[in-house]
Amino acid sequence: MADRGFDLEGRLDTLKDHDLKRALSPVDRVAERGYFAEPSGGELPVLESAEALVFASNNYLGLTDDQRIQDAARQAAATVGTGAGASRLVTGDTMVHRDLERLLAEVKGTERALTFSSGYAANVGTITALEPDVVFSDELNHASIVDGCRLADADTVVYDHCDAASLRSALEERADAAARAGRDPTDESWLIVTDSVFSMDGTVAPLEEICDAAEAVGAWVMVDEAHATGLYADGGGVVQAEGLEDRIQIQMGTLSKALASQGGYVAGSADLIECMVNDARSFVFSTGLAPPAAAAASEALHVARHGDARERLWENVAHLRDGLETMGFDVWGDSQILPLVVGDREDAMALADGIRERDVVAPAIRPPTVPEGTSRLRVAPIATHDENDIIDCLEAFRAAGEEVGLL
Ligand SMILES: Cc1ncc(COP(=O)(O)O)c(C=O)c1O
Repeated sequence: MADRGFDLEGRLDTLKDHDLKRALSPVDRVAERGYFAEPSGGELPVLESAEALVFASNNYLGLTDDQRIQDAARQAAATVGTGAGASRLVTGDTMVHRDLERLLAEVKGTERALTFSSGYAANVGTITALEPDVVFSDELNHASIVDGCRLADADTVVYDHCDAASLRSALEERADAAARAGRDPTDESWLIVTDSVFSMDGTVAPLEEICDAAEAVGAWVMVDEAHATGLYADGGGVVQAEGLEDRIQIQMGTLSKALASQGGYVAGSADLIECMVNDARSFVFSTGLAPPAAAAASEALHVARHGDARERLWENVAHLRDGLETMGFDVWGDSQILPLVVGDREDAMALADGIRERDVVAPAIRPPTVPEGTSRLRVAPIATHDENDIIDCLEAFRAAGEEVGLL
């Protein structure tokens, strides 16, 4: 009989042959250090005997094991419930969701905010609900933006990474093409979308220039602050650091990185949020964010705004960048993410293995995730690393770098 199923074994073999097969390595807790287990497939994992320092997480402020945030989650579980039980539009809309959304709107300087069950769902839901005719998208935008554009069936014009001149020429070309075809380009809705901080390159988008370009043609701007929320001015993102709230129509972000929780959000005008409540399918047809996640994110946002975690993070970033560069490593980016670019994929793997043997975790990022010849280790310090942790990390990089012949 013909087999109309799927050759999963073949697919896995192809991944293995190309050295692209991914594996899960569990850890005992989410913090600046932890005990990891070797990938064990479906078997029960066995934790290693040595504790490792984690320099690869998005838990930038180290708030996942903060007592205040855990208490907030516990209290919400006890008083509101462990799950929302339904879509927000049915019976899953609770006071903890409203508290969080009020706080997010305050921090992001917008009329309102709306939470989704993930940042992925927020991007896909928002872009599809807007139904843009054309999206102008940075070439390194996150997969959830790319998928949002695909699902929205928008014409997607990709411009060069963080390059406002490339964006301007893309906007001009599209306007010219419309004019040549006898169409009025103002009949089309145009959306410019960019991450603010790029996760693999640590670069920061030139938001002010992007706003200038957008305003010149009447396009809207949507900024993904996933890797920035909580880390910049007053607990906001790059949009707040640069005072651009009034020039950016849609701010989006996640609760699952610096805010130590789970979920995503969109912030903007009251009309934008009302449209999302009605039209964003990933909001309408998905269970509301779990109340403990909403309460944890609210508390984390409060701590990010008023505590000293941001300051400690940026001190660690400066110390680590300085130490790595002084050793002779090539460190890219302008943010808390330090991409240590090695170039050759085998060297990157050897360096990652070398620091891992010295109990420091920062896995290698290789093509196709990053372009050929730019294999790297994505090094991300956490606010709760103390000075000795940073020194231990630097020592591991020095020893492993010398062993691999990179220093
Ligand atoms: C830039 C960016 N946007 C969106 C997301 C999706 O967020 P979440 O993990 O909350 O689904 C991520 C997370 O990986 C991200 O890096």
